[in-house]
Amino acid sequence: MSAAAIIAIAVGAVVVLAAVSFFTLARRSDVRGAGALSGETLTRDKAHRKDSRAFEATATSGATRSAAEAEAEGTASRGTGTALAKVEDEPALVPWVAPDPEAIGVSRRQFFNRATVTLMTAGLGTFAAAAFVGFLWPTGTGGFGGSVPAGKLANIKAGINQGGGFFYVPEARSWITEYPSEALPLAATIYPDSLLKAMNQGIVVLSQKCPHLGCRVPECATSQWFECQCHGSQYNRVGEKKAGPAPRGMDRHPADITPGGDVVINTGIVVPGPAIGVNTTGQEAEGPHCTSGSH
Ligand code: FES
Repeated sequence: MSAAAIIAIAVGAVVVLAAVSFFTLARRSDVRGAGALSGETLTRDKAHRKDSRAFEATATSGATRSAAEAEAEGTASRGTGTALAKVEDEPALVPWVAPDPEAIGVSRRQFFNRATVTLMTAGLGTFAAAAFVGFLWPTGTGGFGGSVPAGKLANIKAGINQGGGFFYVPEARSWITEYPSEALPLAATIYPDSLLKAMNQGIVVLSQKCPHLGCRVPECATSQWFECQCHGSQYNRVGEKKAGPAPRGMDRHPADITPGGDVVINTGIVVPGPAIGVNTTGQEAEGPHCTSGSH
């Protein structure tokens, strides 16, 4: 996945989150909460208040009757059983049960708050997943860490001659130098097949990174070696260590040569440089050194 795709996904996620947040915050705050009374409840409340007022009116008028009249009326009603019959006819009261808060429903404010949190979580999760996949996705061809085309073999060899023995491929962060054919028998006993493919075609691909502490190792035109400016490690032209604090020779990358003669460097593979003491070409310094590496 390209960096542009990752950025597009990230921008889309941010825009969606911003829109949802803005919509939520822009809403008026008069949305009723879960504790508000429903219309049905208010209607019942009004009816109850009306009944209460009627009862109070009846009680007030009854207060004007005399005690004797009230007793006589009670005795009469007991005798006939009318009052008891009326009570028995009343429908049974249903005990009130508090409603389940979860069953009341979700207000709009709660809905939008939950939706915002859910969308933000989903957006951030998507962004993190996209970034993680993009980080792990193979880079394919054309960039460091993958396969880097270096040009035609013939052109590279011409470039080595023009460069005084050294050819630099910036996209691969690597040097290419010529490997002498007379040294191949000894090289075959030391280097792996992945490197010998290119060496048999007359070239070796060396990482520019010094195996000591990682500085970029430049060529030295006078000595015809590689000589690191940081701490003075020196390597011959095929990257075998000659002097200095480096723990081994220069690291290498395998390279394929296609039937059409194109050289493709696999920078995704780093083959550690040969051990100290390996000197397959026997090349000595051909002039003054560029650094003061000790032998
Ligand atoms: S980094 Fe090259 S010699 Fe130390």
